[in-house]
Amino acid sequence: MYQNYKKFLTFLDYYKLFGIETRIQSKPRIRFENNLVSNNKENLKGKLLELKEKISNLDCEIKTNAKNFVFYDGILNSDIMIIGEAPGYEEDKLGKPFVGRAGKKLDEMINAIGLNRKKNVYITNIIPWRPPNNRAPTDNEIKLFLPYVEEHIYLIRPKILLLFGNVASKSLLNLDQGITKYHGSWFNYKNSFLKESIFTICIFHPSYLLRSPKQKKIAWEDLKKVKEKIDNLKLKYEKKT
Ligand code: URA
Repeated sequence: MYQNYKKFLTFLDYYKLFGIETRIQSKPRIRFENNLVSNNKENLKGKLLELKEKISNLDCEIKTNAKNFVFYDGILNSDIMIIGEAPGYEEDKLGKPFVGRAGKKLDEMINAIGLNRKKNVYITNIIPWRPPNNRAPTDNEIKLFLPYVEEHIYLIRPKILLLFGNVASKSLLNLDQGITKYHGSWFNYKNSFLKESIFTICIFHPSYLLRSPKQKKIAWEDLKKVKEKIDNLKLKYEKKT
């Protein structure tokens, strides 16, 4: 390091000798943004694999009781990204998000507005390991995984982000109150990886709707807003991986 520094100073002295005090590059170099903010999603599979490795290797108590690491399901190049809370029993067994009872409900909800995990959505969770006995994730667990969820969102860079339930909504949007207050409103979500904000909406969690079917009406109104946004943004419904 010190050697490099010395070399650099010698190099500057050499320039000075010729009366050169300023050097301007032909193109501006945005150092702090690095290559994280480029819009190309090249090698997305590779980058997701790297992220998966990073997260699954995190040293944490929660993974000691889980069977499988649950990372994502759906279409890589999707304009719509769904984020839930944490895997349950079925998800843990199969290593995929939202494949149990809540997952069936989620499918029903998104199918009603033309979305489908096999065609046009990307699905993940805040917590990648099943919490023991399906307990709620702790604040420390959320804190641990949140930066990786932010990077995950950056890699996918969806046009619309759907946050299902309180945990995803409160942690990503830093809300002072729960989803009952904020569901159905549009937010401009941004994090330190992203150059542009993403249209984001909070929707009742499918597990909550299974417990409280009377709330389905409200969720349906919120889903209609998503459909409206998809139409306004003229997003295409079918994508290829
Ligand atoms: N609930 C969630 O929030 N995520 C899942 O993957 C399953 C149930």
